[in-house]
Amino acid sequence: MSIKYLGHSCFEIETKSGAKILIDPFLVCSPDYNPEGVTDIFVTHAHGDHLGSAIEISKKTGATITAIYELANYCEKKGAKVNGIGVGNWQNYSWGKAIATPAYHSSSTMDGVYGGNPCGYVFEIDGTTAYHAGDTSLMQEMKTIGELYRPDVAMLPVGGQFTMDIEHAVIAADWLKVTGVIPMHYNTFDAISVDIKEFERLIREKGKLPLVLKVGQEMN
Ligand code: NI
Ligand code: MN
Repeated sequence: MSIKYLGHSCFEIETKSGAKILIDPFLVCSPDYNPEGVTDIFVTHAHGDHLGSAIEISKKTGATITAIYELANYCEKKGAKVNGIGVGNWQNYSWGKAIATPAYHSSSTMDGVYGGNPCGYVFEIDGTTAYHAGDTSLMQEMKTIGELYRPDVAMLPVGGQFTMDIEHAVIAADWLKVTGVIPMHYNTFDAISVDIKEFERLIREKGKLPLVLKVGQEMN
């Protein structure tokens, strides 16, 4: 599978079988993104910078939005195709499987509707296990996620203010036992601006690989 960074917390995963998966499609950093061919959308929580264009894209492409039950209901009422789930249950797809994990954050839509609990996701695709943490603080559950799912790579928020900062993300990488970390949720707004070189330095010190992707950059 390949992972392309579309800015903020948004990624596009393309599987060997040809599925195209979007996570948290907030596309201000990739305004020219063409969602044609998207088969699945995963949303970690209802905040505008994560739900983003999920509903529009689902309506345009027929992609299924996987989200926590309350948020999925909200999307369905707006005309999207959904798979409403709870934390902790593997979901099977034609391209692999995914499980929602806990996240310490909040979740309500821009118009004030309760979005259920926020979450992250672990994906097992083409023999690789990838964890997208969503918006969260550092949490003990990351030790469990490391133990249960053994992710190879983690997409972790590093911007602080609303989520973990760089120092906590480095601890999270340790707890998750991952080999590589893709930083996300930084430098989109002033409140979450960081020196990403500092992240690279600290992750390397832990013997792990910093995978700093530019917007539009892809890794395999
Ligand atoms: Ni949020
Ligand atoms: Mn956010």
